[in-house]
Parts: sequence; structure tokens; C-alpha cells
Amino acid sequence: MQGLFITLEGSEGAGKSTNLAFIHDYLEQAGHTVVQTREPGGTALSEHIRALLLGHEYDGMASDTELLLMFAARAEHLAAKIKPALAQGKTVLCDRFTDATYAYQGYGRGIALDRIATLEDWVQGSLRPDLTLFLDLPVELGMKRAGERSAPDRFEKQQLDFFDQVRHGYLERAGQQPQRYRVIDSSVSLEQVQAQISTVLSDFLQSR
Ligand code: TMP
Repeated sequence: MQGLFITLEGSEGAGKSTNLAFIHDYLEQAGHTVVQTREPGGTALSEHIRALLLGHEYDGMASDTELLLMFAARAEHLAAKIKPALAQGKTVLCDRFTDATYAYQGYGRGIALDRIATLEDWVQGSLRPDLTLFLDLPVELGMKRAGERSAPDRFEKQQLDFFDQVRHGYLERAGQQPQRYRVIDSSVSLEQVQAQISTVLSDFLQSR
């Protein structure tokens, strides 16, 4: 039986890493064999592409280059890791996926959404996540939290209005697909965030 494909998205500073570990544990305790991975990245080649995308060596990269590199990394990731794991019945837990492309390259950079949809169909065929959790946080609060961490990467260096657009993109698309795409209010305490996540996961697993 085909495994489950679960993705986690989050605003900058929304606690993605901590909650990824929480979701991983939750799924394992529910009896799933979990393959945790991330985008851009997840395979040796895709991690090389990630370094090009996030590093500062090519700061002025054209938006279309950025978009195509995201999908190049994704094509490799799907072929070498995600699809084989799903075919073996494993649960794939991915830190960001194509919803990030719509939010960052689409709403953030201003690339037409139908271009992204074309690439999505090409690279993924009919494969879409079964469940996506979006850790949502007001942009200023997220940037304050993220700013307390390490040196910013090429995306983290963007201005406030870029992140406003990104957040708007996530929320708009979540509103269009409420069954798959669940919004978690991450402005509250970690315990309250994880209580929301547990409810979503429990409902989702019961519905399968
Ligand atoms: P992260 O691992 O800290 O989330 O960093 C990945 C960065 O890459 C994050 O700023 C979002 C960005 N990104 C895109 O712009 N488009 C994409 O399709 C993906 C997967 C990530």
C-alpha cells in the first residue's frame, strides 16, 4: 500500500524544527515507519542545489532560475527518495514542499501561479501531499524569533513585505484546500501549538 505523504510548512521563526521532531515522534508512536526529509534538499544532488539557493554566492539570481532550481531539486528528491519510500508503504515527512514554491516564488517573488502549476504537474504528475500543516505566525513576531538565531540565508534576508506576501500566499492557498492544508496558530505557547498539531494528526490518521 502506498505510504502517506505529510509536509510541514512554516513562517520564518514559527518553530518548524521543534515541531517536525514532535510530528516525527507522534507518527512513530502511531506505528508508522517515518522517512523524514526536507526541501530544497533531501538527496546529495538536491542538497547541492539547496546550497546554491540559500547561500549568498548568487545573491542576484533571477526569480525564474530560483524557481527552476527548486523544481530541479524536487525532481531528484521525488525520484530518488520520496517516491521509493511511498511505494514501500513508508510515511514521508517532508520539511517544506511545493506549497513553499507557491508562497515564496509565486506570492513572494511574483511569478505567475499558473507557471508553478505547470511545473508541479510536470515534475510531480498527480502526486500531492496527503496532509500539509502550516505553522502560522505574524511576520514581525516570526522575524524577531528568527533574528535571534544564526546568520540569515538568502531568503531570510528578504524584507518584511516579502514575508507578508509569503504568509498571505500560504493562508490563501490553505483556505482553498482546507481538507489537506491545515493552519496551526503558532503565536501561542509550544504546548498549545503541539496540542493543535496532535488534534490535526489524530483526525487525519483516523480518517485514513
Ligand atoms: P528552511 O529549511 O529554513 O525552511 O529554508 C528553506 C528556504 O527555502 C526557506 O526560506 C523557504 C525557501 N523555499 C522556497 O523559496 N521555495 C521552495 O519551494 C522551498 C521548498 C523552500
